[in-house]
Amino acid sequence: MATEQLKAVMQPIDRAFGLPNAVYVDADMAQMEQQKVFARHWAALTAAKNLPQAGCVMPITFFGIPLLVTRTKAGEIKVFENVCRHRGMILVDEAKQLNGPITCPYHAWAYDLDGKLHATPHIGGSGIHEHESVDKACLSLNEIRSHVWMDVVFINLDGKAESFAETHRDIIARWAEFDKPIYHGGAESSFSLSLNSNWKLAVENYCESYHLPFVHPGLNSYSRLEDHYNIEGPGAFAGQGTLVYAPSLGGGGKAFPNFKGLSAKWDTAAEYLALFPNVLFGVHRDHVYNIILKPDAMNRTSEWVEIYYTDPSALADDYAPMRQKNSAMWKEIFIEDIGVVEGMYQGRSAPGYDGGKFSPVMDGPTHYFHKWIAEQLAV
Ligand code: FES
Ligand SMILES: [Fe+2]
Repeated sequence: MATEQLKAVMQPIDRAFGLPNAVYVDADMAQMEQQKVFARHWAALTAAKNLPQAGCVMPITFFGIPLLVTRTKAGEIKVFENVCRHRGMILVDEAKQLNGPITCPYHAWAYDLDGKLHATPHIGGSGIHEHESVDKACLSLNEIRSHVWMDVVFINLDGKAESFAETHRDIIARWAEFDKPIYHGGAESSFSLSLNSNWKLAVENYCESYHLPFVHPGLNSYSRLEDHYNIEGPGAFAGQGTLVYAPSLGGGGKAFPNFKGLSAKWDTAAEYLALFPNVLFGVHRDHVYNIILKPDAMNRTSEWVEIYYTDPSALADDYAPMRQKNSAMWKEIFIEDIGVVEGMYQGRSAPGYDGGKFSPVMDGPTHYFHKWIAEQLAV
């Protein structure tokens, strides 16, 4: 990527160009992006709720790398390469609950959920399970640095990023009041969508409220454009907030329980942020959600949506219709976005498109994301 083009993206918004088409469509860019945007940062991998109990293991392929997420006996989430230290066999081929160790299907070397190798059957010949040249302590599974925040499992593939807490101190401080236990709403609070588009366009569309009146007329009828404000970092996030959050899902004034101890601002405010690179969050006084974006290819993105409530009482049966309604409402909104996210991707094949022209007033968060991507690609 030419430095000139990246510099044009990093200009102040009234002069800046958007990211060049190649950053969205070129196969060569995928590899560069994997290294510079994903491996060096804290990328979102999955939701911790997918591993509800000790002994749960889940294989995930991320940019072609076979990974294994586990929940240890102590309840911690860990991420490893899903590869046996003996001959490199894939260890686990489907998500499951283990009662014992992670046993390789090839020659039965066995690892505990913390990745430590503890059995090497017949390694010294039939019936001899040790060998002096094999030090088990040096043959743990290769661990990937990970961190869980707001139920999202983040990984730092190159192991060199600053800690998650340091990297994301600004958003952690901004949303400190939401840093509390959250409770997943169950099967109906989980869904996924597939988009024929680049993952970055899903981030960009999520960051801004400019499109609300045109793409989400239903939502805009009660949460209007003028009720929104832009959020541009500081730090690796951007998005928007509303000042008029007023849920009305239940009949007769029935409402989900709110988080305890929220300040008055959150009585009517809600915020929607992309945490760079690949996770979108929404926070409200009575529920939060995350959307993990999985870049399957340059032109293919999966969105995994999980919705959580503030208190176990919100998971009771009498709230089931409200939970369903809430999920259905969000699903409808996210589906409304697909047309423009895919349409912008198609637009990136027009050779004359030069990255576009931003509205200095409405497109601040999108520009903030572009600048962040350009900065990563430039070093
Ligand atoms: S490859 Fe795993 S035990 Fe041989
Ligand atoms: Fe939208």
